[in-house]
Amino acid sequence: MAKKEVTYRFPEGFLWGGAIAANQSEGAWLADGKQPQATDVMVGITSDAHTPGLKYNEEKGQWEMALYEDKVYLAHEGIDFYHRYKEDLQLMAGMGFNCFRTSISWARIFPDGDETAPNEAGLKYYDDLFETMLSLGMKPIVTITHFDTPLRLMTRYNGWSNRQMIDFFMNYCNVIFRRYGSKVKYWLTFNEINNLYRMPLAAGGVVPARFDPQAKDFMVCYSEQELNQALHNTMVANAKCVKLFHALIPDGMIGCMIAGSHLATYPASCDPQDVLATLDARRNTFLFTDIMAAGVYPSFLRKLWKDHGTEPAMEDGDLELIRDNTVDYIGFSYYFSNVCKADPEGEFFEGSLTKGGKKVPNPYVTEKSPEPWKFPIDPKGIRYVLEEYTDRYHKPLFIMENGIGLDEKEEDGQMIHDPVRVKFLEDHLKEVHKAIEDGCDVRGYLWWGPIDVVSSGTGEMRKRYGFVYVDRHNDGTGDLHRSIKESYYRYKEIIENNGL
Ligand code: BG6
Repeated sequence: MAKKEVTYRFPEGFLWGGAIAANQSEGAWLADGKQPQATDVMVGITSDAHTPGLKYNEEKGQWEMALYEDKVYLAHEGIDFYHRYKEDLQLMAGMGFNCFRTSISWARIFPDGDETAPNEAGLKYYDDLFETMLSLGMKPIVTITHFDTPLRLMTRYNGWSNRQMIDFFMNYCNVIFRRYGSKVKYWLTFNEINNLYRMPLAAGGVVPARFDPQAKDFMVCYSEQELNQALHNTMVANAKCVKLFHALIPDGMIGCMIAGSHLATYPASCDPQDVLATLDARRNTFLFTDIMAAGVYPSFLRKLWKDHGTEPAMEDGDLELIRDNTVDYIGFSYYFSNVCKADPEGEFFEGSLTKGGKKVPNPYVTEKSPEPWKFPIDPKGIRYVLEEYTDRYHKPLFIMENGIGLDEKEEDGQMIHDPVRVKFLEDHLKEVHKAIEDGCDVRGYLWWGPIDVVSSGTGEMRKRYGFVYVDRHNDGTGDLHRSIKESYYRYKEIIENNGL
């Protein structure tokens, strides 16, 4: 294709690609020795957060898998990426991707999580997967864990609230770094770890003493103490993992991965109360990068722990380890922005540790994506997040996920026209470009779900993000064939021109 005039040109060597996760795409949930993991017992991580397929066995004194017969666990078969990755990666290469992000399923490598020896069949699968990416000109970007703690680590150890998890995790990291270090140079530790307080089951593998289907906020089911402990344990694991990574793969980069939409939270007005409530809400996202990227526990958090009497147990050397082993870059997802209004009696604002703000609509951001997504479309929010991270940490940034979920159907073999997706893509990229011009060191842009995958939040296929359509539906029907949507050609053109 002839090169077009490019107004928004991206830096030389910019990484263009897309991102998926093992648990939402691979399927083959019990193949080649794999055992169940966190999202295997949930239809969706938000929709099923309080009614997972788990039952308490009084005799054994622990939780066990007990799936509901009337629920469709679409992720068990996913889009069958496990068997079709060669064909799917070809399609990605067809858009000119020079990188591709996916995750390794921890339970394929250590099926129960607490074994000492890895499962060779699982290791072999990722050998082939990364080889295929490289042969197609795509640098693999790998998330070590994407909401998929092996189930046994949850039912037996109560996930990340237990310090033993650090050893299991490090055993896993040690194996995958040694095995794939020569092929994979970009890594991420925990996917959207700032969802720990909002979705402790998926993000931290923490099983509460009881589940309450009516519960609106997490504190009803979980104790603040166990979540604070899970935070500290994951933060120590993050630092240890970074340290090991730098020793084993010195020519690579390892980052953290944050749900950045929470950071794009604006005050409802210039009323100082709204401004302070927003400060508080945003702190709950910043705290994770303060620890992982700057190496410090923020003072507001320490005070909160003290006031509530919920300080996590720490061991000698933990704080020094965290201080000395910060991530090389910040990876984040961005989908939409939020508005916060002061409300002292209100609910916890999007997984905040404190009450004090509620979510209200933004009268200035009126464009909304259609059902089932319904989120405000705010391209400026992505620039806001990029600039804020740059000002605060001065580290390289990667947009690890951006995208829009639409309800789309194929008709009579006609190509799906998705102008809403194309506009979303273009508008967000223009804002990314402005941030780069302002000096933000943005290394790459990855579209979430460049091929339709199972939704993480609601476990549906109906919410499609892809440039490539997959014939699978909410009731589990569909022959899984792939077809190209119109947006595929637009993204291809943008990548070819290294800009818009
Ligand atoms: C991010 C997750 O939060 O958002 C992905 O890292 C997820 O796993 C994506 O799929 C989109 O959310 P959803 O719920 O629409 O799939």
